[in-house]
Amino acid sequence: MESKQLLTVSEVARRSGFAASALRYYEREGLIRATRTGGGQRRFERNVLRRLAFIRAARNVGLSLDEIRVELADLPDLRTPTRADWGRISRSWRQRLDEQINALQALRDGLQSCIGCGCLSLRSCAMSNPGDVAATRTDGTGAVYLPSLLRQAPEGDQR
Ligand code: FES
Repeated sequence: MESKQLLTVSEVARRSGFAASALRYYEREGLIRATRTGGGQRRFERNVLRRLAFIRAARNVGLSLDEIRVELADLPDLRTPTRADWGRISRSWRQRLDEQINALQALRDGLQSCIGCGCLSLRSCAMSNPGDVAATRTDGTGAVYLPSLLRQAPEGDQR
């Protein structure tokens, strides 16, 4: 029988760059798995590092934990993403990145008109209303004018 070298929380934290608290959180959220020693300490299989690298990449792209959970759940038997998985998934993220870049460019262009203004009007400020869409929309004010990708609440605000 093959013996697996298991890693402690601190080893995984050191090698992955994630804080131990983040590892515990991701485990509670079901994104990574750990076994327990007789004393109740967590032990991780080495492939958790690849899974964490995937999580970091997904977070960098802007995926929420729920979206990451869905991506990982699509992998058979909750296995770690392979090179082929990564190629397929990362291609699907390109459009998302393009949309984020476009949204940020619209914000950057709008910022130009804010310099020296200071009104911060939720109705007419170009930062809240890129492309002057307020002039034609009747479905709300304020943040509704932000590009949809920039209207997402920070992760901590979603619970
Ligand atoms: S602060 Fe006045 S338009 Fe943005």
